[in-house]
Amino acid sequence: MAKPPLSMQPTGWFQVAWSTEVGVGEVHRMTYFGRELVAWRARSGQLTVMNAYCEHLGAHLGFGGHVEGEVLECPFHGWQWDHEGRNVCIPYEKRPNRGRRMPTYPVLERNESIYVWYDRLGRAPYFDVPDVFAGFGDGSSRSDYHQVATLLRENLEIHPQYVLENGVDFAHFKFVHKTPIVPVFTRHDFDRPVSYVDFTITFEGDEGQSIEDVHSGVQAINGGLGVAVTKSWGMIDNRTITAVTPVDDSTSDVRFSVYIGRTTGSDPAKAERRANAMAEEIIRQFTQDVHIWQHQRYSDPPALSAGEYRGFTAIRTWAKQFYPDGRGGSAAELRAATAADISPT
Ligand code: FES
Ligand SMILES: [Fe+2]
Repeated sequence: MAKPPLSMQPTGWFQVAWSTEVGVGEVHRMTYFGRELVAWRARSGQLTVMNAYCEHLGAHLGFGGHVEGEVLECPFHGWQWDHEGRNVCIPYEKRPNRGRRMPTYPVLERNESIYVWYDRLGRAPYFDVPDVFAGFGDGSSRSDYHQVATLLRENLEIHPQYVLENGVDFAHFKFVHKTPIVPVFTRHDFDRPVSYVDFTITFEGDEGQSIEDVHSGVQAINGGLGVAVTKSWGMIDNRTITAVTPVDDSTSDVRFSVYIGRTTGSDPAKAERRANAMAEEIIRQFTQDVHIWQHQRYSDPPALSAGEYRGFTAIRTWAKQFYPDGRGGSAAELRAATAADISPT
């Protein structure tokens, strides 16, 4: 096991739950970015994510806090907090405490997932979470796909960047997934916080193929370091969402959502079974990646082959913008310290 040397406090959108985990009137406990948090859903359906400890005397709102209409009421002395973290009622005083606020986080529900914006510097969101359907601009929508299949793996020693780098890692397919795939990149667009990687798929021994002979590929959209959505075409029609969210200074939770395309057929039960089996297979392949990532140590600078240089350099340069120090976090600091230690004085 190796503690990630990159900062575990990158800026961006991070998935903290699936929408179904926080029903109307429910309070959901979670720990992310080293903070105790609660997500709660008001009667109106509006979702709020805030720090878990009551600003009054510090009760944990995830243990006995309850939703009253549009506010969250603390179990200790009944103070009520609204969507913006404002105190709206102290039951034994005439007026609420207008000065004190519960820290809240920008929250977004998309593709049945709950995303939270985290920025150590307190900046407002400056990019969007990619939509696994609308993001690809092909007119597809949720109704074209079967029920979502999901995987959650908690507290793994994984940094979000490891997972994103998989998107440019053409050489791992044969070794990790035992598929002799040779991806050919057709798009590498790392100009903005939302980046794009597309590749087509050929197989070993097919080197003489022209682009017209290629019948399948993958398109990926990365929304910062926390969320990547993919569309696979030509093979099993599927969409995936990969989300990695730092829990503390050394671990992350990994969430994976898979949608299998509906096909026209007469037997819905059979189609459902087939889709479930396909989703299971995609999840199985994903767990092969997870197995590598959870024991990996970030290699910096890495020993890259000639063919890998462009993709990895592009993604690592792009990734730096999400670290508040702009340098790739503690890895950069460590390297600078080492260089200073060995330089002659
Ligand atoms: S600690 Fe929450 S109301 Fe007192
Ligand atoms: Fe993989």
